[in-house]
Amino acid sequence: MGSLAEPLPITAPDPMQPTPYRVVATHPESADVTTLSLVPVDAALPVALPGQFMTVWVFGVGEIPISVSRMGVAGEVLLTVRTVGRTSAAMVGSAVGDVMGLRGPFGTAWPVAAAAGRDIVVMAGGLGIAPLRMAIDALVAAQAGQVTVILGTREPAQLLFGADLDRWRAAGASVHVTVDAADRTWNGAVGTATAMLQRLGVHHDMAFVCGPEMMMTSGARAVIALGAQPHDVWVSLERNMHCGIGHCGRCQLGPHLLCRDGAVVRWDTVDELLEVRGR
Ligand SMILES: Cc1cc2nc3c(=O)[nH]c(=O)nc-3n(C[C@H](O)[C@H](O)[C@H](O)COP(=O)(O)OP(=O)(O)OC[C@H]3O[C@@H](n4cnc5c(N)ncnc54)[C@H](O)[C@@H]3O)c2cc1C
Ligand code: FES
Repeated sequence: MGSLAEPLPITAPDPMQPTPYRVVATHPESADVTTLSLVPVDAALPVALPGQFMTVWVFGVGEIPISVSRMGVAGEVLLTVRTVGRTSAAMVGSAVGDVMGLRGPFGTAWPVAAAAGRDIVVMAGGLGIAPLRMAIDALVAAQAGQVTVILGTREPAQLLFGADLDRWRAAGASVHVTVDAADRTWNGAVGTATAMLQRLGVHHDMAFVCGPEMMMTSGARAVIALGAQPHDVWVSLERNMHCGIGHCGRCQLGPHLLCRDGAVVRWDTVDELLEVRGR
């Protein structure tokens, strides 16, 4: 099997050397999710493509991969993080002025240019919307084909980026939000993102899907069942990572190193590997 997507060149002189970045703003998104805006302390601003990730070293705690959720207007890097363990908790609890060591951007990007003139569905589960945010911005700005966004989240309080959803709607995207479990505040749809797609029953030429692995599997299969070609469906796969540059082998999936050949990969190049892993 060939490579999953075209690996992007790494331009840093020493990609293993973290660059100090300062937190310039923090924006709580939900009870356990925060977006940090960071700028290099003394280096050029990076350029990250939609879907790429950085590694973040919280000094004295640990280093973890986090997707770039947006580039700010002044070139800041926005990272949206959920507390799951020590390092992510330290990021979520950080304050303006704190300094962290970042490496990257690393990995492949969503093939936004290939979507020109085509109808595309972007499906996100929970925090999976973060690595898709810049891609949706670009798709909506291009105003080429119809853009459908389906966001599934566990409960209304975990809904992220409400202002973006409104903006994408206003720019012509068809945006659908659904929750697994409704509460008294919710009068929208209930069910999974995949069930929402099936309910819409619309064919799309292309799909970008990001979320928990089971959600991506069911979402990809549903888009294909509605007529998309498997090679036009893209997902973003998370694995434990260490080096981020294809050296240590920690992120291996079959013959692929997901830090280098992913995280964004073509569905038809990984569906069988995910099936084997899930058995
Ligand atoms: C390419 C890539 C992009 C990512 N982008 C983001 C992002 O934009 N935002 C974000 O919040 N996270 C993202 N992650 C996940 C993030 O890297 C992990 O949540 C983080 O490594 C956890 O580290 P920790 O030290 O906080 O927790 P650990 O101490 O490593 O783990 C604590 C507990 O959480 C579990 N755990 C670890 N990672 C995950 C996970 N991914 N999902 C569920 N449980 C987990 C562990 O099994 C353990 O039980 C990304 C991961 C990859 C590979
Ligand atoms: S994280 Fe080292 S090879 Fe991918």
